[in-house]
Amino acid sequence: MLSDLISHTSVGRIEYNSKYLCGKIENLDLNIAKCSRIEDIHSPIFNMAVVTSIFNQAGGVAKSTLTLNLGYTLSQAGQRVLLVDFDPQGSLTVFLGFEPWDLPVTVYDTLMGNYSTKESLISVLEQAIVSAHQMDLLPANRRLGKAELELFTAMNRERKLAAMLDPLKDRYDWILIDCPPSLGLLSVSALTASNGVLVPVETEYKSWVGTDLLLETITLVRREINPGLSIFGFIPTKHTRTKSQHQRVLKAMREQLASVGMVFDPIPNATAFADASEAGQPLMLYDRRHVALQALQSLASTLLSTHTGVGELVAATDVKQSTSRNSSKAKVKS
Ligand SMILES: Nc1ncnc2c1ncn2[C@@H]1O[C@H](COP(=O)(O)OP(=O)(O)O)[C@@H](O)[C@H]1O
Ligand SMILES: [Mg+2]
Repeated sequence: MLSDLISHTSVGRIEYNSKYLCGKIENLDLNIAKCSRIEDIHSPIFNMAVVTSIFNQAGGVAKSTLTLNLGYTLSQAGQRVLLVDFDPQGSLTVFLGFEPWDLPVTVYDTLMGNYSTKESLISVLEQAIVSAHQMDLLPANRRLGKAELELFTAMNRERKLAAMLDPLKDRYDWILIDCPPSLGLLSVSALTASNGVLVPVETEYKSWVGTDLLLETITLVRREINPGLSIFGFIPTKHTRTKSQHQRVLKAMREQLASVGMVFDPIPNATAFADASEAGQPLMLYDRRHVALQALQSLASTLLSTHTGVGELVAATDVKQSTSRNSSKAKVKS
């Protein structure tokens, strides 16, 4: 069961072949995961958040960068956005300008507490959630790494995150979970808590050949724990149009993954992303005319129209400067 799932990391040697996923996908029960009906995910009646994992077991493929920038793009379209840093490295927390060790209450505390009432959980969530750039963040630091060990013998451990996020679902339109670079309990918990998963894949050979492993993990989580988990799509990242390997990988992604999920426009390789993160800002605030914003806008527009029925996004040029960087802690909206 879960232990098989978590330790399920062995695949045969993969030859580099742009067709390498062919034949593997058919064995995975993924096609029906391409849920895109609004009513299946975001009920206009109950107005529940679309919980989305940004997931890839590889590090450095732009998960945290994408979580931050997609969240900001959605927030500029009037969406209420909560970002959940679920990586003990705390990159997302840092990218939003916070010092992880300065934060007295983090996602570790909200995850590990024993709550007798919903109110007591909400109270700890309110203490943990901070605000930046018109988004809320449930931050993380290295203490989150202990959770994996401490939950080892806990019942329903993979469902703890889902239970913890439950009281927040009617307070946000989107909850984006930045997953750690591993296939362990934290990632499985994120997939268990999610309506859908977005998979950033760097258009490099090394990133591409890990794709079958993450598809297997998604399949196993769907089969064993969360049958409602959909693949919202694949996002080619750090793409350099002039590099032939990048062109080959992008072509292979479009050919081989289209049957599994949408393949979005590639996010270009741009050092401005790193510079913006260093400044504690989304790219849209750091350089509001940057060419890479188009791919982010297109991604957010597609997600909005597919999963919430909300129309066109505001243009990047209409975006006002964020008022408060690292503003005081937000109250969980009631
Ligand atoms: N589109 C991009 N172009 C160039 N560098 C990028 C891009 N997206 C992210 N980066 C940089 O790549 C590094 C890894 O990104 P990060 O978001 O931390 O990846 P992950 O969360 O998958 O480990 C960071 O230094 C980040 O600034
Ligand atoms: Mg990260």
